[in-house]
Amino acid sequence: MQRIVKNIQQNKLYQLGWRIYNDGTFAQVHQLTEMEMCKNPKRFDIINFLAGNIRAQTYLEIGVRNPDDNFNRINIAQKYSVDPGVEFEANPVDFKMTSDDFFTALDQNKLSISNNTKFDIIFIDGLHLAAQVDKDIANAARYISENGFIVLHDCNPPTEYHARENYQFNNSPADGFWNGTTWKAFVQARTKYYSCCIDSDWGVGILSSLARPGFTLMPVNENVYFDFNFFSSNKVAQLNLLSFDAFTTGLGN
Ligand SMILES: C[S@@+](CC[C@H](N)C(=O)[O-])C[C@H]1O[C@@H](n2cnc3c(N)ncnc32)[C@H](O)[C@@H]1O
Repeated sequence: MQRIVKNIQQNKLYQLGWRIYNDGTFAQVHQLTEMEMCKNPKRFDIINFLAGNIRAQTYLEIGVRNPDDNFNRINIAQKYSVDPGVEFEANPVDFKMTSDDFFTALDQNKLSISNNTKFDIIFIDGLHLAAQVDKDIANAARYISENGFIVLHDCNPPTEYHARENYQFNNSPADGFWNGTTWKAFVQARTKYYSCCIDSDWGVGILSSLARPGFTLMPVNENVYFDFNFFSSNKVAQLNLLSFDAFTTGLGN
């Protein structure tokens, strides 16, 4: 059985290699994937920077998968995690449920934490579909502390293939890499929150209720909301896309 799995994996790698070699689009998209993967800092570096800036005490992560990848690297005293366990069987999290079920149970005071809890940083990285991320942002906003940050992963898809709706589409030039349509929810939220997006690790979006150096609001423009090509050609303004260096200077650290 193991040998069959190995053969399938090798065959898939061979096919990908063949497509990259023979198909210009595959090669171009693959190169953009590689470039994004090389970028630093990573999401946990950015979250730890923000945490230091506001002396964060409480952290919530929605969508955790393997906690060694991010959750365990966050330097905040009190941390909580939510995940229904779709992608990582062990699923060693505090609340084994979807984000919707978590917030419903929290509202009803049915969890081991009180519904008076405020989190200093909430990291949204669950189901990457705009309608779900919209809900996650709205729910997070009710539980974020006054000077806290809502942080979102995957706000800056390099191509429309990375921003596909269907995660399971296997023949995408983006291979298994998937940012989904989180970008739409982030752009929408930028009309309500002071915000920016760090140009690293697939786009780390940051929302704040407070005006801060480096953060801007985006004017409402319904016409371009769902247009990936417009978004892609106007990313700097759409996302308030900043390098980490520009961001840290802006925050006056
Ligand atoms: C991209 S992974 C998270 C990666 C992790 N935050 C990191 O930085 O390494 C997405 C996770 O979201 C979880 N997930 C899927 N649907 C969800 C939902 N409705 N609510 C919360 N989490 C969800 C999946 O089980 C998966 O573990």
